[in-house]
Amino acid sequence: MNALKNVPVHVSIIMDGNGRWARERGLERAAGHIEGVESVRACTEAAVEYGVKYLSLYAFSEENWGRPQEEVNALMALMFKSMMAELSNFMDNGIRFVVLGHRERLGDELNSVINDCMEKTKENKTLTLVIFLSYSGKWDILQAAKKFAGEILAHPDRSAELLSMDTDGFDRYLVTDGIPDPDLIIRTSGEMRMSNYLLWQAAYSELLFSDVLWPDFRKQEFLSALQLYSKRDRRYGKVK
Ligand code: IPE
Ligand code: IPE
Ligand code: MG
Repeated sequence: MNALKNVPVHVSIIMDGNGRWARERGLERAAGHIEGVESVRACTEAAVEYGVKYLSLYAFSEENWGRPQEEVNALMALMFKSMMAELSNFMDNGIRFVVLGHRERLGDELNSVINDCMEKTKENKTLTLVIFLSYSGKWDILQAAKKFAGEILAHPDRSAELLSMDTDGFDRYLVTDGIPDPDLIIRTSGEMRMSNYLLWQAAYSELLFSDVLWPDFRKQEFLSALQLYSKRDRRYGKVK
């Protein structure tokens, strides 16, 4: 096996650079997204091999709905096709598949294949693969606050107890309820921003920025990221 130390429980990736990868080759942007699926496969395999328990991937942001309709359609079609194709692989490798985000904005067809993959893989234990689709961090915090307010309105007798909630208590209103916060967030393609990703959950994540474009980010790059992470000193505001 491997001699990796301090393997992160949850690795999260902002998969960026597909368009630039395609442009460098004189191809349509969609070609970069298609090649990016191979990187998803490679990193998922690597996560299983190195004992990462949660791999989450930012696949489509709420802001990405503002891209040209043709690109949005190509991305949604690619998600649909990939999920259909990967189900047997998830079952063979013990992968629990989860999609989180503003699901109402996805089409019925895509939602039904997502539901099918989530239901069939829900007992799998080796790796949880989370795809953030139509997700944004601010949207997540807002929907959590609305759920919380709704609970107070529905149970006025419990309002004092509900209002005494701490930050751990708030976690359960976020769409990531039950999933540990990411230990490591990687962003590819050299961009150094969060782009409205896991704003609450990233409070103490280690951040790693790689210049490699997502379609070129494969097993070796994933392993290098884990090696860099293993040297980080996480202090959580305390003195060691
Ligand atoms: C990431 O690659 C994929 C999505 C955001 C859906 P981009 O499509 O953002 O690629 P660049 O940043 O234009 O190169
Ligand atoms: C962030 O990438 C969203 C995803 C990777 C899904 P973008 O390419 O959309 O982000 P910006 O526009 O460069 O911030
Ligand atoms: Mg981008």
